[in-house]
Amino acid sequence: MSLPVMPTSNRGGVHPRPPAVSAIGLRKAYGGHTVLDGVDLHIPAGSVFALLGPNGAGKTTLVKILSTLITADGGQAQVAGHDITASPDGVRAAIGVTGQFSAVDGLITGEENMLLMADLHHLPGREGRRIAAELLERFGLTDAARRPAQSYSGGMKRRLDIAMTLVGAPRIIFLDEPTTGLDPRSRHALWQIIRELVASGTTVFLTTQYLEEADQLADRIAVLNDGRIAAEGTVEELKQLVPGGHVRLRFLGPAAYRSAAAVLGDTVRDEDALTLRIPSDGGQRELHALLDRLDSAGIEADELTVHTPDLDDVFFALTGSTMPDRTDRPDQPKETAR
Ligand SMILES: Nc1ncnc2c1ncn2[C@@H]1O[C@H](COP(=O)(O)OP(=O)(O)OP(=O)(O)O)[C@@H](O)[C@H]1O
Ligand SMILES: [Mg+2]
Repeated sequence: MSLPVMPTSNRGGVHPRPPAVSAIGLRKAYGGHTVLDGVDLHIPAGSVFALLGPNGAGKTTLVKILSTLITADGGQAQVAGHDITASPDGVRAAIGVTGQFSAVDGLITGEENMLLMADLHHLPGREGRRIAAELLERFGLTDAARRPAQSYSGGMKRRLDIAMTLVGAPRIIFLDEPTTGLDPRSRHALWQIIRELVASGTTVFLTTQYLEEADQLADRIAVLNDGRIAAEGTVEELKQLVPGGHVRLRFLGPAAYRSAAAVLGDTVRDEDALTLRIPSDGGQRELHALLDRLDSAGIEADELTVHTPDLDDVFFALTGSTMPDRTDRPDQPKETAR
């Protein structure tokens, strides 16, 4: 499929292909309840973009707006180079959508569901059957293809749902919580399929509640909170937004503890637990330097643990959710920061 010529959307000329999705100031309210309050997005073609956010943040609403299932109250967006308001048919021809809730018809077979999609995409009969068979095979559904879809397990229905989305060979696919309810094996299998799609040039826009999923798949991640994108970037960039990376040293005797505290200087101390916390990115270079300083003073720590912020920390920090207690969190009143 050839890309349309897009004179305006390649702003700045940074990306050789037009962005898969660009949006400015998208707004949506239901009654008096503002769900999206000015959402900006820029998703390069051929990448995986993950949208995170707590329940009710507006992820599904955003997917529905971008896939032209509902209209925004304000703002602008282009998907595959087509304006969602001026050219919804252009958008629809370029995308596939797997909703949060299944589009599978349980009364007909998996194969019939696929052939129905082929008809919707106006594929000639033979071509439709070939593509349906290929996708059923790829998603491990060949043996079940002639059974009514209502007899499928949750994971099989999910796979069929995504296979149906791929019938029209969309350039951009929206997957709203694609792996919710899948067991770990099915989840990993689906990740592999997503990677293959991206390798063949497809852009994937997914929403997920699984931070590991975003970590595994996404080139860029955005966190939606309070109707806005609270942060956007690569996993590494997002992790750098939250402080808290540190090394924790524990000593069995007070003498070693005090010597280390004197040598290291800038630490958070816990006299009772005989531990020191040193801010650190957890990288090899910093760890080496720390151990060298202890070594040259003849001090040996009895335990060394490294804590680097993970995507969970980012999510909790940005969405204002309560962070679960961490066992390594120091007991504040006992500490003296220097
Ligand atoms: N048709 C509708 N009418 C009224 N309110 C709606 C409608 N659709 C969504 N909402 C509200 O908009 C908000 C965002 O819903 P949305 O489904 O987009 O959230 P979400 O981020 O996808 O949540 P989840 O993680 O639970 O799937 C919620 O408060 C929801 O109740
Ligand atoms: Mg949702």
